[in-house]
Amino acid sequence: MANTYLLSASILSADFSRLGEQIQAAEQAGINWVHVDVMDGHFVPNITMGPFIVAACRQVTNLPLDVHLMIDHPQNFIKLFADAGATTLSVHVENTMHLHRTLQEIREMGCKPGVVLNPSTPAGMVTPILHMVDLVLVMTVNPGYSGQSFISEVVPKIACIRQELDRINPQAYIEVDGGITSETLPLVAQAGANVFVAATSIFKYPAGISAGVQALKAAFPDI
Ligand code: DX5
Ligand code: ZN
Repeated sequence: MANTYLLSASILSADFSRLGEQIQAAEQAGINWVHVDVMDGHFVPNITMGPFIVAACRQVTNLPLDVHLMIDHPQNFIKLFADAGATTLSVHVENTMHLHRTLQEIREMGCKPGVVLNPSTPAGMVTPILHMVDLVLVMTVNPGYSGQSFISEVVPKIACIRQELDRINPQAYIEVDGGITSETLPLVAQAGANVFVAATSIFKYPAGISAGVQALKAAFPDI
Protein backbone atom coordinates (compact mmCIF):
# COMPACT_ATOMS: atom_id res chain seq x y z
CA MET A 1 0.00 0.00 0.00
CA ALA A 2 2.82 2.41 0.85
CA ASN A 3 4.06 2.26 -2.77
CA THR A 4 0.67 3.18 -4.15
CA TYR A 5 0.07 6.82 -5.02
CA LEU A 6 -3.50 8.10 -5.08
CA LEU A 7 -5.41 11.31 -5.80
CA SER A 8 -8.32 12.19 -3.52
CA ALA A 9 -10.51 14.95 -4.99
CA SER A 10 -11.99 17.27 -2.35
CA ILE A 11 -15.50 18.28 -3.34
CA LEU A 12 -15.25 21.40 -1.17
CA SER A 13 -14.39 23.36 -4.34
CA ALA A 14 -16.95 21.64 -6.56
CA ASP A 15 -20.00 23.36 -8.01
CA PHE A 16 -22.67 22.02 -5.66
CA SER A 17 -25.46 22.75 -8.11
CA ARG A 18 -23.85 20.04 -10.30
CA LEU A 19 -22.15 17.86 -7.70
CA GLY A 20 -22.93 14.48 -9.25
CA GLU A 21 -21.71 15.57 -12.69
CA GLN A 22 -18.52 17.04 -11.26
CA ILE A 23 -17.69 13.90 -9.27
CA GLN A 24 -18.23 11.79 -12.37
CA ALA A 25 -16.01 14.10 -14.44
CA ALA A 26 -13.24 13.77 -11.84
CA GLU A 27 -13.70 10.00 -11.78
CA GLN A 28 -13.42 9.80 -15.55
CA ALA A 29 -10.27 11.92 -15.39
CA GLY A 30 -8.68 9.30 -13.11
CA ILE A 31 -9.02 10.34 -9.46
CA ASN A 32 -8.91 7.48 -6.96
CA TRP A 33 -10.91 8.71 -3.94
CA VAL A 34 -13.56 11.38 -3.27
CA HIS A 35 -12.64 13.53 -0.25
CA VAL A 36 -15.54 14.96 1.80
CA ASP A 37 -14.70 17.82 4.21
CA VAL A 38 -17.14 17.89 7.12
CA MET A 39 -16.97 21.15 9.15
CA ASP A 40 -19.15 22.26 12.06
CA GLY A 41 -18.32 25.94 12.70
CA HIS A 42 -16.84 25.00 16.11
CA PHE A 43 -13.67 22.98 15.55
CA VAL A 44 -13.04 25.04 12.42
CA PRO A 45 -14.47 28.44 11.43
CA ASN A 46 -16.63 27.16 8.58
CA ILE A 47 -19.75 25.02 8.12
CA THR A 48 -19.93 22.64 5.18
CA MET A 49 -21.65 19.29 4.79
CA GLY A 50 -22.89 16.29 6.72
CA PRO A 51 -23.84 12.64 6.28
CA PHE A 52 -26.47 13.17 3.62
CA ILE A 53 -23.89 14.65 1.24
CA VAL A 54 -21.82 11.50 1.81
CA ALA A 55 -24.92 9.45 0.97
CA ALA A 56 -25.46 11.55 -2.18
CA CYS A 57 -21.84 10.95 -3.27
CA ARG A 58 -22.36 7.23 -2.67
CA GLN A 59 -25.18 7.28 -5.20
CA VAL A 60 -23.08 8.72 -8.02
CA THR A 61 -19.77 6.86 -7.66
CA ASN A 62 -18.30 3.56 -6.50
CA LEU A 63 -14.97 5.21 -5.63
CA PRO A 64 -13.89 5.15 -1.96
CA LEU A 65 -15.38 8.06 0.00
CA ASP A 66 -12.62 9.65 2.08
CA VAL A 67 -14.41 11.49 4.89
CA HIS A 68 -12.46 14.10 6.86
CA LEU A 69 -14.25 15.09 10.06
CA MET A 70 -13.46 18.62 11.28
CA ILE A 71 -16.12 18.63 13.99
CA ASP A 72 -16.31 18.63 17.76
CA HIS A 73 -17.25 15.32 19.41
CA PRO A 74 -16.55 13.25 16.26
CA GLN A 75 -17.11 10.07 18.29
CA ASN A 76 -20.85 10.88 18.37
CA PHE A 77 -21.20 10.83 14.58
CA ILE A 78 -19.33 7.71 13.46
CA LYS A 79 -22.39 5.54 12.89
CA LEU A 80 -24.12 8.26 10.86
CA PHE A 81 -21.17 8.59 8.49
CA ALA A 82 -20.59 4.84 8.30
CA ASP A 83 -24.26 4.26 7.42
CA ALA A 84 -24.05 7.05 4.81
CA GLY A 85 -21.33 5.11 2.99
CA ALA A 86 -18.00 6.50 4.20
CA THR A 87 -15.02 4.31 3.29
CA THR A 88 -12.31 6.02 5.34
CA LEU A 89 -13.29 8.08 8.37
CA SER A 90 -10.59 10.38 9.72
CA VAL A 91 -10.69 12.24 13.05
CA HIS A 92 -8.38 14.94 14.35
CA VAL A 93 -5.97 14.11 17.18
CA GLU A 94 -6.45 17.62 18.63
CA ASN A 95 -10.10 17.21 19.63
CA THR A 96 -10.77 13.50 19.92
CA MET A 97 -10.57 12.92 23.65
CA HIS A 98 -10.69 9.11 23.57
CA LEU A 99 -8.84 8.67 20.31
CA HIS A 100 -8.00 4.98 20.80
CA ARG A 101 -11.65 4.07 21.44
CA THR A 102 -12.87 6.23 18.56
CA LEU A 103 -10.49 4.55 16.10
CA GLN A 104 -11.66 1.14 17.33
CA GLU A 105 -15.28 2.16 16.85
CA ILE A 106 -14.61 3.41 13.31
CA ARG A 107 -13.20 -0.02 12.40
CA GLU A 108 -16.04 -1.85 14.15
CA MET A 109 -18.51 0.16 12.04
CA GLY A 110 -16.83 -1.16 8.89
CA CYS A 111 -14.81 1.96 7.92
CA LYS A 112 -11.05 2.43 7.62
CA PRO A 113 -9.81 4.64 10.47
CA GLY A 114 -7.62 7.67 9.87
CA VAL A 115 -6.05 10.20 12.22
CA VAL A 116 -5.42 13.83 11.26
CA LEU A 117 -2.79 16.32 12.48
CA ASN A 118 -3.03 20.09 12.14
CA PRO A 119 0.09 21.93 10.95
CA SER A 120 1.08 22.90 14.51
CA THR A 121 0.61 19.41 15.98
CA PRO A 122 3.81 17.40 16.49
CA ALA A 123 4.25 13.95 14.92
CA GLY A 124 4.69 12.31 18.33
CA MET A 125 1.04 12.96 19.19
CA VAL A 126 -0.03 10.04 16.99
CA THR A 127 2.77 7.54 17.75
CA PRO A 128 0.72 5.57 20.34
CA ILE A 129 -2.08 4.84 17.85
CA LEU A 130 -0.14 4.43 14.57
CA HIS A 131 -0.62 0.65 14.66
CA MET A 132 -4.44 1.13 14.58
CA VAL A 133 -4.91 3.34 11.54
CA ASP A 134 -5.16 2.83 7.79
CA LEU A 135 -4.09 6.40 7.14
CA VAL A 136 -2.44 9.41 8.73
CA LEU A 137 -3.67 12.69 7.27
CA VAL A 138 -1.11 15.47 7.60
CA MET A 139 -2.68 18.90 7.10
CA THR A 140 -0.57 21.24 4.98
CA VAL A 141 -2.95 24.16 5.65
CA ASN A 142 -4.93 25.08 8.75
CA PRO A 143 -8.26 23.33 8.28
CA GLY A 144 -11.36 25.33 7.41
CA TYR A 145 -11.18 26.42 3.79
CA SER A 146 -9.99 25.33 0.39
CA GLY A 147 -7.79 27.63 -1.66
CA GLN A 148 -5.19 28.36 1.05
CA SER A 149 -1.42 28.38 0.56
CA PHE A 150 0.67 25.30 1.27
CA ILE A 151 2.63 25.45 4.56
CA SER A 152 6.06 24.11 3.66
CA GLU A 153 7.24 23.81 7.29
CA VAL A 154 5.06 20.70 7.55
CA VAL A 155 7.17 18.70 5.05
CA PRO A 156 9.73 17.37 7.61
CA LYS A 157 6.84 16.07 9.74
CA ILE A 158 5.69 13.92 6.82
CA ALA A 159 9.14 12.33 6.61
CA CYS A 160 9.15 11.75 10.35
CA ILE A 161 5.75 10.00 10.32
CA ARG A 162 6.81 7.92 7.27
CA GLN A 163 9.80 6.62 9.26
CA GLU A 164 7.59 5.73 12.21
CA LEU A 165 5.02 4.02 9.99
CA ASP A 166 7.73 2.02 8.21
CA ARG A 167 8.61 0.63 11.64
CA ILE A 168 5.11 0.19 13.11
CA ASN A 169 2.56 -0.02 10.27
CA PRO A 170 4.15 0.09 6.81
CA GLN A 171 0.84 -0.54 5.00
CA ALA A 172 -0.72 2.72 6.24
CA TYR A 173 -1.08 5.64 3.88
CA ILE A 174 0.16 9.15 4.53
CA GLU A 175 -2.33 11.58 3.08
CA VAL A 176 -1.67 15.30 2.66
CA ASP A 177 -4.35 17.95 2.45
CA GLY A 178 -4.15 21.65 1.66
CA GLY A 179 -2.50 23.70 -1.06
CA ILE A 180 -1.61 20.67 -3.19
CA THR A 181 -0.67 21.77 -6.71
CA SER A 182 1.64 20.43 -9.40
CA GLU A 183 4.43 22.40 -7.65
CA THR A 184 3.84 21.18 -4.09
CA LEU A 185 2.81 17.59 -4.83
CA PRO A 186 6.32 16.33 -5.68
CA LEU A 187 7.67 17.82 -2.42
CA VAL A 188 5.23 15.91 -0.23
CA ALA A 189 5.57 12.74 -2.32
CA GLN A 190 9.34 12.79 -1.85
CA ALA A 191 8.85 13.23 1.90
CA GLY A 192 6.75 10.05 2.00
CA ALA A 193 3.14 11.03 1.37
CA ASN A 194 1.17 8.80 -0.98
CA VAL A 195 -2.41 10.11 -0.99
CA PHE A 196 -2.85 13.65 -2.27
CA VAL A 197 -6.01 15.64 -1.54
CA ALA A 198 -6.79 18.50 -3.90
CA ALA A 199 -9.84 20.75 -4.16
CA THR A 200 -8.84 23.94 -6.00
CA SER A 201 -6.30 22.19 -8.27
CA ILE A 202 -9.06 19.90 -9.54
CA PHE A 203 -12.47 21.58 -9.29
CA LYS A 204 -11.32 25.16 -9.90
CA TYR A 205 -8.59 24.41 -12.42
CA PRO A 206 -8.99 27.07 -15.14
CA ALA A 207 -8.90 24.58 -18.01
CA GLY A 208 -11.41 22.25 -16.32
CA ILE A 209 -11.54 19.21 -14.05
CA SER A 210 -9.94 16.76 -16.44
CA ALA A 211 -7.02 19.08 -17.22
CA GLY A 212 -6.54 19.68 -13.48
CA VAL A 213 -6.29 15.96 -12.74
CA GLN A 214 -3.89 15.48 -15.66
CA ALA A 215 -1.66 18.33 -14.44
CA LEU A 216 -1.38 16.74 -10.98
CA LYS A 217 -0.63 13.32 -12.47
CA ALA A 218 2.00 14.83 -14.76
CA ALA A 219 3.72 16.37 -11.74
CA PHE A 220 4.32 12.92 -10.22
CA PRO A 221 3.99 10.18 -12.84
CA ASP A 222 3.66 7.35 -10.25
CA ILE A 223 0.08 8.49 -9.54
C1 DX5 B 1 -9.26 22.15 4.36
C2 DX5 B 1 -9.81 20.87 3.79
C3 DX5 B 1 -9.20 20.50 2.50
C4 DX5 B 1 -9.45 21.50 1.39
C5 DX5 B 1 -8.30 21.47 0.43
O1 DX5 B 1 -9.74 22.32 5.64
O2 DX5 B 1 -9.54 19.80 4.69
O3 DX5 B 1 -9.56 19.19 2.09
O4 DX5 B 1 -10.65 21.23 0.69
O5 DX5 B 1 -8.45 22.52 -0.48
P1 DX5 B 1 -7.27 22.97 -1.46
O6 DX5 B 1 -6.85 21.76 -2.22
O7 DX5 B 1 -7.90 24.03 -2.29
O8 DX5 B 1 -6.17 23.50 -0.58
ZN1 ZN C 1 -9.82 17.72 3.98
